[in-house]
Amino acid sequence: MAIKHFLQLNDLTGDELNHIFERTRWIKEQFKSYQQYWPLTDRTLVMIFEKASTRTRLSFEAGMQQLGGSAIYLNTRDSQLGRGEPVEDAAQVISRMSDIVMIRTFEQEIIERFAANSRVPVINGLTNEYHPCQILADIYTFIEHRGPIKGKTVAWIGDSNNVCNTWLQAAEVFDFNVHVSTPPGYEVEPERANLYGTDHYEEFEDPMEAARDADLVTTDVWTSMGFEAENEERRRDFQDWQVDVDMMRIAGKDSLFMHCLPAHRGEEVAADVIDGPQSVVWDEAENRLHVQKALMEYLLLGKVLDQQY
Ligand code: CP
Ligand code: NVA
Repeated sequence: MAIKHFLQLNDLTGDELNHIFERTRWIKEQFKSYQQYWPLTDRTLVMIFEKASTRTRLSFEAGMQQLGGSAIYLNTRDSQLGRGEPVEDAAQVISRMSDIVMIRTFEQEIIERFAANSRVPVINGLTNEYHPCQILADIYTFIEHRGPIKGKTVAWIGDSNNVCNTWLQAAEVFDFNVHVSTPPGYEVEPERANLYGTDHYEEFEDPMEAARDADLVTTDVWTSMGFEAENEERRRDFQDWQVDVDMMRIAGKDSLFMHCLPAHRGEEVAADVIDGPQSVVWDEAENRLHVQKALMEYLLLGKVLDQQY
């Protein structure tokens, strides 16, 4: 099988992503019923972090161990990556000693250069531009709670960041709509989001209108990692882009709330919403584990049938 990377959500087809969701369901059931499932015995995952993480590190490391393999953590501070070793050289070496690599870094270009020099699959664990593993978990969580996402409306409130860009890509793959509302000056950049057209998203000046009748309302921090210098300015600019109880009321009682976490209560989301009855953020976080296990299984073994291993 040719090497497949997962650098952007649309690196995989809708058919492949749906297969991963089917496998996620099965793998999650095994995990919940304490059934051992070790298809990746003797396989090694290397995780490279150039930015902080709780969920991504934990879910990949635990996930790889639960599949019978092992995981090694590298960060910029303690490796030669932080001392100027070219990313191409690092990719050659790391991919000769491991079976799969996950990277969290700054520009998308860095992960693309790594993948171009890698002998093994590379997974994007977040870049400035995209966060595809997060959206896999988010869509899986939506499906668990509400069924197929095709034709539904997702409201994105706040910064048009890496998570937003990936929602927009997912909307094209799975044929749903995204209503985006950002403060002026923070609008979607279609080229950066690598979008083919505007058929699947609509921009709204008023966040309340973006949220109206949405099946899912979602948001993220006002300042993403790597943009800390803009923190004060963003705090002022994003004041009116908080998901609060009034916004969830406009969305409707069946609307779900998601947040990739970590969250800042009182900034992008009111405590009453994230801790309220429409919030599914803990399921969403847990599902990072299950979808990424299915993703690693797919990238390493191809389409696996139940009980094959
Ligand atoms: N949502 C997410 O990626 O969380 P971490 O930054 O904790 O990995
Ligand atoms: N947009 C956020 C997501 C963190 C998981 C960031 O990039 O910091």
